Amino acid sequence: MQVLAALAFAGVVAAQQQEWKVWHPSNSELIYGGDPVTVASTTATAGAAAYTGSAAYDPTTLTPPGVPDPAITTNFVVQLYQGGMTNLSIPQSGAFMGFSIEMSVATQILGRNSSSINVPFLNLMSNLKERSGWVRVRVGGNSQESATLKEHLDGYPEGTILAKDYANLFNNIGTPPLEYTADLLTMMSKISDFTNVHWYIGMPFFNTTPFDVSIVQAGMSILGDRLLAVQAGNEPDLYGFNGRQHRAETYAPQDYKNELSGLFSQVSSNDLIPRKQDIWLAPSISAANPNWLPDTVWSTNIIQDYNQQLNSITVERYPNNNCAALYGSGTAINPQDVFQDYLRHNALTDLVSYYATSAVLAVQQNKPLVMFETNTASCSGFPGISDSFAAALWSLDWSLTMAYNNFSAALFHIGGQNSYYNPFTPAPTNQSAFREWTIGPVYYSAMIMAEILGPSNASQVVDLNMNDGNIFTPGWAIYENGSPTKVALLNYVNDPTGAQSYTAAIAIGGGQTGQLASNPASVRVKYLAADSVAQKGNFSWAGQTFGNHFESDGRMKGNLDVQTVQCDQANNVCNIHVPAPGFALVFLTEDGYSAATPETVATFPTTFQTATVNTARVDPSVLATSNGHADMADIRGATSPGSRKSAAFGMREAVPGLVALAGLALGALVVGRR
Ligand SMILES: *[C@@H]1O[C@H](CO)[C@@H](O)[C@H](O)[C@H]1NC(C)=O
Ligand SMILES: *[C@@H]1O[C@H](CO)[C@@H](O)[C@H](O)[C@H]1NC(C)=O
Ligand SMILES: *[C@@H]1O[C@H](CO)[C@@H](O)[C@H](O)[C@H]1NC(C)=O
Ligand SMILES: *[C@@H]1O[C@H](CO)[C@@H](O)[C@H](O)[C@H]1NC(C)=O
Repeated sequence: MQVLAALAFAGVVAAQQQEWKVWHPSNSELIYGGDPVTVASTTATAGAAAYTGSAAYDPTTLTPPGVPDPAITTNFVVQLYQGGMTNLSIPQSGAFMGFSIEMSVATQILGRNSSSINVPFLNLMSNLKERSGWVRVRVGGNSQESATLKEHLDGYPEGTILAKDYANLFNNIGTPPLEYTADLLTMMSKISDFTNVHWYIGMPFFNTTPFDVSIVQAGMSILGDRLLAVQAGNEPDLYGFNGRQHRAETYAPQDYKNELSGLFSQVSSNDLIPRKQDIWLAPSISAANPNWLPDTVWSTNIIQDYNQQLNSITVERYPNNNCAALYGSGTAINPQDVFQDYLRHNALTDLVSYYATSAVLAVQQNKPLVMFETNTASCSGFPGISDSFAAALWSLDWSLTMAYNNFSAALFHIGGQNSYYNPFTPAPTNQSAFREWTIGPVYYSAMIMAEILGPSNASQVVDLNMNDGNIFTPGWAIYENGSPTKVALLNYVNDPTGAQSYTAAIAIGGGQTGQLASNPASVRVKYLAADSVAQKGNFSWAGQTFGNHFESDGRMKGNLDVQTVQCDQANNVCNIHVPAPGFALVFLTEDGYSAATPETVATFPTTFQTATVNTARVDPSVLATSNGHADMADIRGATSPGSRKSAAFGMREAVPGLVALAGLALGALVVGRR
């Protein structure tokens, strides 16, 4: 077992630290401009005591929809075939589901700077890396469009690498431009060292004469091969739309294509941009402008003509919006009224059908089609939906639906404290000394998607259309190299009586053409569980959880609980129970199971937290050098805030008792790959 234990005391951050700037999430989905206001909640429930006023911790709980009428059939057969099934997707990466971090909140999420990285973030990425090998993260969004790379940020506290320049509001719409230093990219590179994150970044596109390509130069030089690609313009379809003044109202797909041509000729002679092919992401259109339908954009031949330069084809999509609540314009949507729309499969098959021709073109042109930004609803999501168990089921369904329809990746957006839909949210800056992170439903889905697709790069997804295509019970099979290896079963129905739980009889064997002689003797099953679709926090995946609001350092708690189901080999079925609501992942092979089930996850230390000391950040140089140079005796000393030196420790191997210790005050580390 490899050594990776460490504990570091990474600097004292007093709770009373100056709140020098409040970063509102600059919404990529923002249409009308203006900084969002904090949305006050009205429905207070048990969690209200912990409510801090930020959307991310809003205690609003909705009423789950009733049992459907007609009720679902609760016993049905799912027939799989050896050798493959018709309509298998293209082979998918286990890093299919990734994250999109709004650039303006990057330091909230990733860390203060390259010598002060957020440990919970490292742990969250590590969980994914152990399941799929790597993680896909984008830093960008609307805030990238005005971001300026500076040598230093003057006038801010020492170590500041990202700030909003309130002196220079552009277009008077109240969204201040960003300034940042190259240390942001250095921090990203150090994160990659530990957790194999690969990055998408974006370059400003408002000004074309010339383009400011400094982030491309710095990104290539600092991130190297961890830089996946660079987005050329975020939602250009909205540049001239609805009062935004970044282009004329007549700005059309052909204009954008011409501007890309200008960009390519600008970089062609730039030696600081060594990679000129297979690097750009376009067109990143939202679905809000009817003059920029995907097919209208493709009709410019942008993909064929720029096939060499383009890395991937990008689109962005939120199925609904909460902009009225956030910005006070338009018609407000009551979350309760739309709750049920997040609990049926056909809402997602409809949504994905918008991209049917795009996917065909992408496959033809051999370019990944990437859902570059998505989540439950734009303008920060809906309270009670975006942060509920429903959103975990919904985002799994959405991701699997996109994978089946030949998207190659989907990035779920993170907007910061004022968003409901965050996969994960750090404690507010002024509370980070005594609170931990909040892990949202979408993060669970990301981890589960990593398990579903695994590290092989060979997983092909098929929508089973099971239970006669019932919209409340979608299911998928995963094939690897011609054999079914996993089955994913979802039940959207919320039924506290349990009557609408279902049993899927999975049949692979039987000896008919294309079938195995018999089913496996047994299969393993992991469940994603909660009491109701409206539940917030404390979801469990295979018995483990990230807890409630403010309870996580990014490591799962509790014992792994995986069911072994004996199959009925005489009748060639494996009967799998799926609760209402719930999700089950069935592992048909032992290899598929072990590849997706790390025995230990390399995690990173967070140290004891008191009201005055925050050690949830770590200097990566301490992490890198702390392995294997001390013994357990040092752990105890580490709890003292003053013991900076002895706080760094490592361990030659993971000692069993250590795992328990780790959960205690010191929150150290566990370790190693299988
Ligand atoms: C990070 O910030 C801290 C203070 O918050 C500062 O001491 C340190 O020098 C900074 N590191 C870098 C690389 O800017
Ligand atoms: C996805 O691409 C594969 C390979 O080209 C194709 O067979 C399949 O029909 C496509 N799926 C969809 C839903 O278009
Ligand atoms: C943190 O800051 C917010 C917003 O400025 C404020 O409402 C809240 O009371 C502060 N909390 C603490 C514990 O200081
Ligand atoms: C899967 O693809 C990733 C990224 O391209 C690569 O690093 C990895 O080695 C591949 N894994 C396998 C098993 O081929």
